[in-house]
Amino acid sequence: MHKNKENKVLDTKLDAVSKSLKQSIKNLDSHTHVRGESLYVDDVNIRQGTFHAVVFDSPKAHGKINSINYSKAEALEGVERIFTYKDVPGKNEIGGIIPDEPLFAEHEVHFWGMPIALIVAESEFIARKARDLIEIDIEELPVITRAKEAKAKGSFINAPRSFSLGDTEKAFQDCEYVFEGETFSNGQEHLYIEAQGAYAEPLENGNIKITSSTQGPTSVQKTIAQVLGIAMHKIEVDVTRLGGGFGGKEDQATPWAVMAALATYHLNQSVKLILNRHDDLRMTGKRHPYESTYKIGLSKDLKILAYQTEFLQNSGAAADLSPAIAERTLFHATNSYYVPNVTTKVLSCKTNLPPNTAFRGFGGPQGMFVIESAIAKAASEIGVSARQIQEANLLDENDTFSYGQIAKKVEAKNTWHSAKNIFNSDALEREVSDFNKNNTAFKKGVSFMPITFGISFTNTPMNHARALVHIYLDGSIGISTAAVEMGQGVNTKMMQIAADVFSVSIEHIKIETTNTTRVANTSPSAASSTADLNGKATLMACNSLLERLKIVAAEDLNVSENNIILKEEYVFVNDNKTELSWTDLISSAMLKRVALTENAHYATPEIHFDKTKEKGHPFAYHVYGTAITTTTIDCTRGTYEFDSVKIVHDYGKSMSEGIDLGQVEGALIQGMGWMTMEEIAYNDEGKLLSNALSTYKIPDIFSVPKSVEVIPVETKGHELAILKSKAVGEPPLMYGIGAYFALQNAIKAFNPNYDLKFHAPMTPEKVLMSLYS
Ligand code: MTE
Ligand code: HPA
Ligand code: MOS
Repeated sequence: MHKNKENKVLDTKLDAVSKSLKQSIKNLDSHTHVRGESLYVDDVNIRQGTFHAVVFDSPKAHGKINSINYSKAEALEGVERIFTYKDVPGKNEIGGIIPDEPLFAEHEVHFWGMPIALIVAESEFIARKARDLIEIDIEELPVITRAKEAKAKGSFINAPRSFSLGDTEKAFQDCEYVFEGETFSNGQEHLYIEAQGAYAEPLENGNIKITSSTQGPTSVQKTIAQVLGIAMHKIEVDVTRLGGGFGGKEDQATPWAVMAALATYHLNQSVKLILNRHDDLRMTGKRHPYESTYKIGLSKDLKILAYQTEFLQNSGAAADLSPAIAERTLFHATNSYYVPNVTTKVLSCKTNLPPNTAFRGFGGPQGMFVIESAIAKAASEIGVSARQIQEANLLDENDTFSYGQIAKKVEAKNTWHSAKNIFNSDALEREVSDFNKNNTAFKKGVSFMPITFGISFTNTPMNHARALVHIYLDGSIGISTAAVEMGQGVNTKMMQIAADVFSVSIEHIKIETTNTTRVANTSPSAASSTADLNGKATLMACNSLLERLKIVAAEDLNVSENNIILKEEYVFVNDNKTELSWTDLISSAMLKRVALTENAHYATPEIHFDKTKEKGHPFAYHVYGTAITTTTIDCTRGTYEFDSVKIVHDYGKSMSEGIDLGQVEGALIQGMGWMTMEEIAYNDEGKLLSNALSTYKIPDIFSVPKSVEVIPVETKGHELAILKSKAVGEPPLMYGIGAYFALQNAIKAFNPNYDLKFHAPMTPEKVLMSLYS
């Protein structure tokens, strides 16, 4: 209680103090990034004698392993050893939520790219050569690549989940309009710049240190301990930073770290395992493709009275994070709208694809795409604009979500109307329709995309973090948290918090690597919650130290501690600067034997969820926003450009404006890529065809919108957000969904007979076919 009060007072103080830092702060890593000096796993100083490893994986998507002949590979000079499931001293099991995934295949393979063995050699080159010499005989079994097919065959990961509110069946009977349809959204490749990898080194007494490119150091530690059958304290996991994660390293950084550790365990030598791009693309899971059906019912005045969906999630061959992702699809199935009668259901369908995994938005985008499709369909059939239906149903204060949470501090209407006013959308829509009247070879389309995204891990027990803060005797500061820096700027935010609390310049502060021996039992850096959870812990630790230092200063200056303020690296008494500097204060604290280290634990208050009822209050708060997207298509070629994306976004009170803008822009483009051009393709045998950058296209500088404007909505922020600065990592990805519907509208302007299709991504080929269908 006492702590919370303190934090509140500090929050207000920080609002004033940090204004200039807020606006001017650059990502801490900017300098080392542009100079090529930032360190990744591949840059680790390897010790003499280090072995290099390559994974041997299944060349078939489903089958029984009749035989494997390693003898030629083992005979190759420079090959040290080949490890298989037989070498696992503990459990050959890496499944996090459901124990259904072996580290190495035993007698069966379930996806193309499934790890079977680890080849350890003097060099990666030799290990790769050895891999080509392995002979495997697989008796093929039927392959399922689509969720629908899995459903028909009863192939599931777990039991279905369903949320409901009101009486959907009955409500449909009262509707003026009812429409049904199907949608498909494809997967998405994370394409982090740094591929998956790990480096394991033996320490004394059988202890092992792992440098891993993971979002979840504790999962890596826990899984290694389980596979090796040893205690967690024997494993130390260290992460400097990731060259991007985007969810792809929440769970799927683990197997490579475990394999490297397994080899180190047996060989008592360091082992480096870094996937090359082809191996990474083939062996790792992606965003889940979804095949869904919807039924939407509206009143005469366009109120959505009832909504029903069934989501078929293509989970791949093992659970991975699929159940949690499926759950988030249900949480976001009604996006920014209040729907009084809802029934949603999700089935995690087991297929023979690599286990699909977390990807920015975590199932939320897939859910939102379906309701936006349903609205577009209804609008087209009724003969109104989708914008009218969207606007008529926006979430309001005290509305209930299908999962029981009451919406508070809602900014859905605020961002929507702010976007309309600030960007003069009436004029924009008129321009578009005038353009379409006057042009035949090119057509424009405009769309609105509101977003509402819940912040917190949906699994309540995961919402906690710790911070360990040392003030060294020269006044410099070292901060360790569970936060993993992956480009999102979380280290910079942690540094700002300490700089603000102590009122020292950022040069005094170092953000340490993320390490399981300094901060233990951590949740992954995910769910956009890293800055909130670790930032609150950092704030608490720094505040405790500050209180202690104030007592020291009060004694030294012979005044009451209530009059002490730290400002610009000096102690102030009632606004008067004293002679006592920050470094003198620290020296004095040392002489007085005051502890200059603090460890704080933060657990998000207020949240809870009851899975037996599928009701609760799972989110600390929601992030809101509205995007207006305009596109121009070339009706001869089917190609298109995005003229502009205009966004009003709810940052709360952004603590790092440049970093947060970067997150909005990056997420938007990633979302647009998913919706328009990124096309994952597997053949019917389950082989990945889009297995290189030549066959998988992500947005580049030529495909980004000609203009992106992002305006912060005026709000008071939220107490549960760090310094009222709301989570920003994932929500803006869903603005990208607007791109899909802008294209639909442009096509319709050219081809009035066009029957809207909800089959993403909307590639130029599909646009071309739709123009003339
Ligand atoms: N931004 C960059 N540059 N690189 C990333 O890997 N991951 C995204 C988002 N922004 C990512 C990113 C995802 S999936 C999440 S959950 C959040 O950042 C995680 O960081 P946060 O919790 O600090 O927002
Ligand atoms: N979001 C992201 N990652 C997660 C979540 C979540 O809600 N739950 C478990 N991992
Ligand atoms: Mo982000 S998908 O929660 O790592």
